[in-house]
Amino acid sequence: MEIFILLSFLLLAVAGDRALGQFSIKPAHTCPKTTRTTFELTHHLMNKYYNWTSGRLNGGSVWTDANALETVHTLMLQNKRTDWDGFADNSYLGRHALNTSSDWQAFTGGYIDDAGWCILDLWAMADYKTFRGENGVEEYLISAGQLYDKMSENWDDTCGGGVWWTTDHGYKNTITNELFLTISAQGYLRFGNETYLENAKKTWAWLEASGMRNSEGLYNDGLDDSCVNNGETTWTYNQGVLASGLGALWKATGNRTLLKEAEITLDATIKDMTVNGVLKESCDSVIETDDPCDIDQQTFKGIWTKHLQYYLIFTNKKEKIAKYGPFLGVQSHAVTKYATNATDDISNLWYARDEGGAIYNVKSLPSGIMAHVAAAQFGGCEGSDST
Ligand SMILES: *[C@@H]1O[C@H](CO)[C@@H](O)[C@H](O)[C@H]1NC(C)=O
Ligand SMILES: *[C@@H]1O[C@H](CO)[C@@H](O)[C@H](O)[C@H]1NC(C)=O
Ligand SMILES: *[C@@H]1O[C@H](CO)[C@@H](O)[C@H](O)[C@H]1NC(C)=O
Ligand SMILES: *[C@@H]1O[C@H](CO)[C@@H](O)[C@H](O)[C@H]1NC(C)=O
Ligand SMILES: *[C@@H]1O[C@H](CO)[C@@H](O)[C@H](O)[C@H]1NC(C)=O
Repeated sequence: MEIFILLSFLLLAVAGDRALGQFSIKPAHTCPKTTRTTFELTHHLMNKYYNWTSGRLNGGSVWTDANALETVHTLMLQNKRTDWDGFADNSYLGRHALNTSSDWQAFTGGYIDDAGWCILDLWAMADYKTFRGENGVEEYLISAGQLYDKMSENWDDTCGGGVWWTTDHGYKNTITNELFLTISAQGYLRFGNETYLENAKKTWAWLEASGMRNSEGLYNDGLDDSCVNNGETTWTYNQGVLASGLGALWKATGNRTLLKEAEITLDATIKDMTVNGVLKESCDSVIETDDPCDIDQQTFKGIWTKHLQYYLIFTNKKEKIAKYGPFLGVQSHAVTKYATNATDDISNLWYARDEGGAIYNVKSLPSGIMAHVAAAQFGGCEGSDST
């Protein structure tokens, strides 16, 4: 009898952890204080901006909302908490996922990168629903599959391969292809579907040969009309999404060169895109400028931290956590020290005290939260009061 109870308990525990998907890994680097701060800030985000009528964040956009809600669900899953129960189905994306005749072209406005961000959010929300034993998981996964097919259909031979940025086929760029890489590799790990693995391999082969990575190891924005690196801005998120993609592809193939490749770009970000060890987007500024970060650019740094977090989850190695965890801890500290104001809003300016250049809005706030979520898992408590 007792053995039976013990066995049932163990089976339940295993099933429960499987439901947590990639977040069941619990390295001994978590920081309880950062976790508490993160929940407080996320309550502030959702209370201030989440609109229960529209299912959107007021002032947000499809892709940044998807990123924010992905992080909200990751945070709950990692801590087995239910603070925002029911938000998945209420969300604008969740409503479309439950509607079997949704028009994804209209939903994404033809942006293939946005399809990618939505897939990551749908998977996080599906994991959360699984954890809660809710209905609708299947619909979320089917919708993610439809969005995935939309991405694959927009691959062609122009410039030797790659997915177009939009369905107008005007631009081949880094972010869309890094998303296709990470989703394909993660999709293979989730579903074992060989098509996903083939797509991940061919996308990395194309990204590697594309010339979009510069001599510093950083990815520029995209290709010009002659299929040459256009030399446009090296945004932080382009340096992070690559890592989650190569981390997942390493997990799928065991090819260690992929980790070296990921770290060339991660290390270049840490070396060349920081001030005093803290991430700085090229448009971030202490003082007001004529050319501040636009509303999308204000969210890029948080995405870099989120995808480094995923890289550490996929690789799950002590030495990698020792190498990058402290950097995540420093980002989280800087967000608290410099970017967070007395009423818990977070600006885009992480690296120094504001002298008029900080911008606070619905996109900079979740970006800061992403830094805390990553640090709560891997940043340790160095330099902060650990209680
Ligand atoms: C919330 O969404 C509804 C429906 O889209 C909209 O009418 C309303 O203005 C939004 N509320 C705010 C505060 O923006
Ligand atoms: C489902 O999507 C279709 C096509 O976009 C739309 O016409 C319909 O109103 C949606 N249904 C609901 C319940 O939102
Ligand atoms: C694998 O994924 C592809 C692309 O989405 C899909 O067309 C195919 O049906 C999937 N195969 C299986 C066995 O699920
Ligand atoms: C491993 O990845 C590297 C880097 O992309 C590639 O050059 C190499 O061919 C891969 N090895 C195998 C066995 O696929
Ligand atoms: C914090 O920033 C928000 C957004 O700009 C602003 O509304 C709020 O008044 C600020 N709080 C303080 C104490 O300055």
